[in-house]
Amino acid sequence: MLAAVRAKITVVGAGNVGATLAQRLAERNYADIVLVDIVEGLPQGKALDMLEAGPIVGYDSVVTGSNGYEETAGSDIVVITSGVARKPGMSRDDLVMTNARVIASVVRDVARRSPDSVLVMVTNPLDAMAQLAHAVSGFPRERVIGMAGVLDTARFRTFIARELDASIEDVDAYVLGGHGDTMVPLTRLSTVAGIPVAELIAPQRLESIVQRARDGGAEIVNLLKTGSAYYAPSAAAAQMVDAIHLDTRRILPCSVMLKGEFGIQGLFTGVPCQLGTGGLVEVVEVKLEPEERAALHRSANAVREVIELLDSRRSDIGGTVPPLGTGVLVGASTS
Ligand code: APR
Repeated sequence: MLAAVRAKITVVGAGNVGATLAQRLAERNYADIVLVDIVEGLPQGKALDMLEAGPIVGYDSVVTGSNGYEETAGSDIVVITSGVARKPGMSRDDLVMTNARVIASVVRDVARRSPDSVLVMVTNPLDAMAQLAHAVSGFPRERVIGMAGVLDTARFRTFIARELDASIEDVDAYVLGGHGDTMVPLTRLSTVAGIPVAELIAPQRLESIVQRARDGGAEIVNLLKTGSAYYAPSAAAAQMVDAIHLDTRRILPCSVMLKGEFGIQGLFTGVPCQLGTGGLVEVVEVKLEPEERAALHRSANAVREVIELLDSRRSDIGGTVPPLGTGVLVGASTS
């Protein structure tokens, strides 16, 4: 017998990341899935296809596609992947503004119908879009969480495992900071079966592995030519949904609004977060070496630059967007 009331998880954006995530979640068999996109027929077609895979794969998850938000009402978790990828000739600022318009309007629609949901943000530029979603939804920080660190860490772990021909199960790694160029891999705390990676991999080689993880998204864009990564990003988002939905209390690197932790105030940045029912349970403040803290602050500073751009152009985003605030960094050099 099915539970009387199944959990509902909405995925906004039925593109590569969103549809792959919806499939992964349907296969978990723990919730019904609503897939939303603006393209007519796309979410409906993909949802029906996934529904029809149920008898073969063996899940009862009901997958529904929609161009509107009625079906999303009362969702427990909403994962937002809608937006555009950067196109040739588009500046970084253009991309920020285009995706900001998408995120602001989607978050308004979602928050109105699912006021108690946890938002998991995936759209890039990740940290800034999560901060915008936090402002527009008016949700407490516990319920707006950005996916970046799980993906960055997975890439780092993959390359360490391949380098040493080790099992990924034995590789633990730590990546903090904003998503992208300024991410902060904590090699000091990264281990293989408990042995620090620095004892196993020569410094220069380790640095090139770090750089490959940092450029992980671009490496895949260059190979694909059209589109960007989606298998690993959707797996990362699904792991966060697992932790929230199943209340596993896992500690995963996620982007959340910091309130003074690590000397960062009022900015979304990737830090270790315990996730469970209701979203963020706790920010886990690991002790950082001074240079690691400085790198984290440089990363937060890069997020702040995008937030300042968004704040200065709030009237271009559409609708009423509350001030995004100005982040404050204390206690370490930010140069
Ligand atoms: N409402 C709903 N859906 C929208 C909207 C909107 N306002 N605007 C765009 N979309 C949809 C598009 O129609 C498309 O189907 O978002 C989807 C995005 O899918 P893709 O273009 O395939 O992009 P994807 O690879 O899934 O990446 C989505 O995740 O990892 C990040 O950088 C990536 O920001 C990007 C996002």
